[in-house]
Order: sequence, then C-alpha cells, then structure tokens
Amino acid sequence: MCGVAIDGNNHEVKERHIHLVKKKGKVKALDEELYKQDSMDLKVEFETHFGIAHTRWATHGVPNVVNSHPQRSDKDNEFVVIHNGIITNYKDLRKFLESKGYEFESETDTETIAKLIKYVFDNRETEDITFSTLVERVIQQLEGAFALVFKSIHYPGEAVATRRGSPLLIGVRSKYKLSTEQIPVLYRTCTIENVKNICKTRLKRLDSSTCLHAVGDKAVEFFFASDASAIIEHTNRVIFLEDDDIAAVADGKLSIHRVKRSASDDPSRAIQTLQMELQQIMKGNFSAFMQKEIFEQPESVFNTMRGRVNFETNTVLLGGLKDHLKEIRRCRRLIVIGCGTSYHAAVATRQVLEELTELPVMVELASDFLDRNTPVFRDDVCFFISQSGETADTLLALRYCKDRGALTVGITNTVGSSISRETDCGVHINAGPEIGVASTKAYTSQFISLVMFGLMMSEDRISLQTRRQEIIRGLRSLPELIKEVLSLDEKIHDLALELYTQRSLLVMGRGYNYATCLEGALKIKEITYMHSEGILAGELKHGPLALVDKQMPVIMVIMKDPCFAKCQNALQQVTARQGRPIILCSKDDTESSKFAYKTIELPHTVDCLQGILSVIPLQLLSFHLAVLRGYDVDFPRNLAKSVTVE
Ligand code: G6P
Repeated sequence: MCGVAIDGNNHEVKERHIHLVKKKGKVKALDEELYKQDSMDLKVEFETHFGIAHTRWATHGVPNVVNSHPQRSDKDNEFVVIHNGIITNYKDLRKFLESKGYEFESETDTETIAKLIKYVFDNRETEDITFSTLVERVIQQLEGAFALVFKSIHYPGEAVATRRGSPLLIGVRSKYKLSTEQIPVLYRTCTIENVKNICKTRLKRLDSSTCLHAVGDKAVEFFFASDASAIIEHTNRVIFLEDDDIAAVADGKLSIHRVKRSASDDPSRAIQTLQMELQQIMKGNFSAFMQKEIFEQPESVFNTMRGRVNFETNTVLLGGLKDHLKEIRRCRRLIVIGCGTSYHAAVATRQVLEELTELPVMVELASDFLDRNTPVFRDDVCFFISQSGETADTLLALRYCKDRGALTVGITNTVGSSISRETDCGVHINAGPEIGVASTKAYTSQFISLVMFGLMMSEDRISLQTRRQEIIRGLRSLPELIKEVLSLDEKIHDLALELYTQRSLLVMGRGYNYATCLEGALKIKEITYMHSEGILAGELKHGPLALVDKQMPVIMVIMKDPCFAKCQNALQQVTARQGRPIILCSKDDTESSKFAYKTIELPHTVDCLQGILSVIPLQLLSFHLAVLRGYDVDFPRNLAKSVTVE
C-alpha cells in the first residue's frame, strides 16, 4: 500500500492545503491515480515539487487505504506523517489522545504520531513555534523504532524528518556549489520550558553557518529516504542521519538539530558520495530483480574477493579487520549472528570457520539470541551478518553484545548502514545493491566473506597451509563454476514445470550442505508460498521420514564430501519409502544417479565452498516456481526487504 501528500499551497488562491492521495496495492496504481486527477489545481501543486510519499507492508492493521501512509491528524490534513518502524507505546498514546477528543480513523500506530503533533501544536504556548520544535516534542513521547517525515499546512514549503532505530538518509542534489560539505548540528542545551526563546533566536535564523544550501541561493533539492536505492536515480550525494537527529528543510535550506549533546556525538554530518550506479539497480533484460541478482553472482562473488584475495601469494587481506586481528585471535569464541538468509550464511560457514580459526563458533538467530539473554563476555568476538545492515533484531543483538564489552564485527552490503556504523570493525561484502526481497547474491557473498575471514585468521598456521591453498584455489575458480551452474537454468525450468502444482517440497542434506537445504527451502517458501522444509539428513529417521511417500517431492543435496556415504544412507531410506528423489549431485557421481528420479549435476569444488554452487539451482528453482505459479517474485506477500521492526 502506498500514498503521497503534496504541498497544496496554491499561491494564486492564497489558501493552504495538503493534497493526499493513497492507494492499496503497488506504487504504479498510485501513479495512475495521481495522473487521472489532472485538474488544474493538482498541476499547480505538482509544480511545487514538495511532498512526502510512502510505500510499505502493513505492520498494524490490514492493508487498505485508511491504514496506508501518509497518516493525518484530521480531515483538513493539518499534519501528515510517513513512518517506517514501529511505535511500541502507541496504545497508551492513543488512549490519551482519545481522552482529549481526537478521533482515530485507522488501526495504525503511525496515526498516533499525526494526532500527537497536532495536539502539541494546538497546545503550544507561543504562536511562532517552529515545525522542528514540534517534532522534537513529539519524539520525546515516542517509544520504539521510527524514521518519520512530517508536513503541515501550517508550515508550507517545509518538511521535518527524524529517526530513532530505523534508517533515514537525505539525498542532496544541486547543479551549483554547495555552501558546505559538513552540516553542523545545532544543539539545544535548554529544557522544553525555554524552547520558546531558542526558537526566536537560533533555529528561526537559518543562515549559511547552520544550514545547507547552494551557493548564491541557486536551487538545491533534498530527498528523504530510508534506503539509498530509492534516490540514487536523482543523486549519489547523501547525508546519513543519526538517531534523534531532527532535519528540517525550509525555504530550500536544510538544517539539522538535536536536543542535547553527548560526549560521543559527532558535531556535524558529512555529505558522502555513494558509489552505487543507476544501472546497478535496474532490471536490464531480466524479468525480475531476483533473477538478475541470481545471474549476477559470477561478478558479485568476484567483487567480494577483489583486492582481498591474492591468488599468487595465497594470502587474504580484509582491510576492515586487519587492525583488530590480534584481538580476534586472542578471543574465547566467535558468535555469528543474523536473521533469515544471513543466518544461513553463518550456518554454511560454521564448519570451515571452526577448522580454520580453531575456535568454538556459535551461530545464532538474532531474535532467539536475544530471547535467551545469551551470556556474552568481553573476550568474545561477535559477527553481525546483514545484507541491509538495518535488520532490527540483528541491530539489537549488536547493541547487546557491545554493552557486554565484546568486539563487534559487521558483515554488511550497505555502506553507512546502522550495523556498519555501530560495529567496531567489519567487512563490506561488495555484492552491489540487492533489490529482490528474497536474498540471493548477498548470501554467496556473505559466505565468501566469512571464508575469507577464516583464511586470514589461519595465515600463520603451518598445519593448515595445504588446506588454505586448496580453498584459495577453489575461490579463484568459483566465478567460472557459477557460470556453469547458471547454464543449467533451462533444465531447472523444466523441473519447475513438473513441480509447480505441488503443495510441498522437502530439501534434504547434511554437513556443508545443510545450510543449502535451509536456504533453498526458505527461497521456496518466501516466493512460491509452497510449504518447504530444509531437513538435516541426519535427523531423517527422527521424524521427517514420516513425510516421505510416492507423492511428496524430495530434493536431496548429495555432494562428494565427507558426508557422501551418510547421504547415500539417507537416499536409500527415501527410495525404500517409494520416494522419488531429485538429486543435486556432483557431475562425476554415478552412484547417486542410479537411484534418482532426476538429477541436477553440478561442477565440483572444494567441499567447504560447494554450498555456493549447490544453492544456485535452488535459487533458480524457486524463481521459476514462483513465476509459474503467477506470483510477483520481487515482492512476496507479507515480506519486506529490510525488517526494521523486532
Ligand atoms: C528479511 C529478508 C530476507 C533477509 C532477512 C535478513 O527477512 O526478506 O531476505 O535474509 O530479512 O536481512 P538482512 O538485511 O539483515 O540480511
């Protein structure tokens, strides 16, 4: 669902209003709706180019027009707000506002914010209170996570944005030289009671020393967004806001302020230049971003290793970790934490990390890790794996570990993201922007980043040199082997044709490929809505075998690795129950194919890297199944790319 609020300050008729258009469904539907309404009035409004817009999946209330954003304070749209995140104390606030006579129209937590700002405005003690002061007062009452942008008919030509816990950045575009590359942060050192005086003095006077504009008052445009990919077609220059920053755009000028200053605060916000290119986030010839991202893996995997793995000297250097290597080598254990696909990358590399670092390695789902209040010690090293760098549970786990004095390491795909900023050190996986909600190329790049870390840790271990060389050789040939796997696309499409009407699909394997099964099953359920389970073949006899019969499709991942013989046992058990296994196996495996209903033959690589190749057919299969079942591959129902709420 989506919506837009455009400044309707029509100067000719001298009346202020905000034009609000909302739609259930996708942005395209909203776009059509807007252009349908081609009244003169709206045309004038469009010329203002000043508005806020939003698209989201519902966290509170069913997806419909009333529940979509912008949410408003009242029927006159005096205040409108868009929100990413979740307000945990909204019920109390709503009760309070209802007791003051405010009537609610939606089931959202966000509507409370729109009503609350009107309440603060209606009860202001001075006529000339600034918009950002109102916002400042509102956020003091909010608990939870939020990125907010407000507009109001009382402040035409202005917008105020703020964040806490949810990401928010400002894109800056100007043909002309900017007045500054660093925006100083204004601090209020006083309490709310004497905010009035401050308003009259500093904040109302936006001069060149406190705000950003183009030199000579030439046009500068600002874009508020929660993710850089939303604005990259307009500008690659961005300012990342910090928690509790309040950014106001008024008369084409941007200023940032905070209520109070803490010792660790950076007193300014720099304008950064992003390296992301527009074509990197366009679909090109592919029908979906997910498909494009699957096919990008030969390059994305290469980019993850570029400049880091030296294939001549068999060395690996991760610049973001090198200063902390000594400390990491001295640690008691490694804890690798993530959600969804990122967690699977941790499962996939656990064994090779244990082998190369000779340390105990725990892999943890962020939510469960927090639920258990897991003991963490100062000599632990905690890794946070996250494509977006914004996943709320992973971020909370990071803060939890930081509070306990552990060294924190981020493995993310998003420069400037909360996790990359809040960790002590880290690795940028360099996979390029990932747009499809179901993660694909980020998984293989996270996998490689963790393997590279293991290789860097084991550089001095004489006993591990042969193994290290074998793995590094394996890394070198990966891009070519991935291309070979991708050439199986047509065969996998044919398999999807056979399977797409099924209700359920099991994926079995063990050892290095257990994670492949978990990840393959996740891809299938995420975008095809079929029931799918990743099963550890070692657990087969303890329950899952009861599911196997003639009808149930079973995919088995059987690779030439130390678990091969055990996988053969599992295969026997499946065929003995008349199961018809579809086997992902090595090209040279004549044994498994004898019992297979179908085989997908994959090139062979080092055991601990095989999971990078074996996951790709499952990514492709889920894609084809979803297309055949008629679903939108990039936007699966009920799911979001960045889950910024707990
Ligand atoms: C969401 C996405 C998944 C992703 C998970 C973790 O659930 O739909 O594809 O794996 O979040 O996201 P992160 O950005 O932390 O890797």
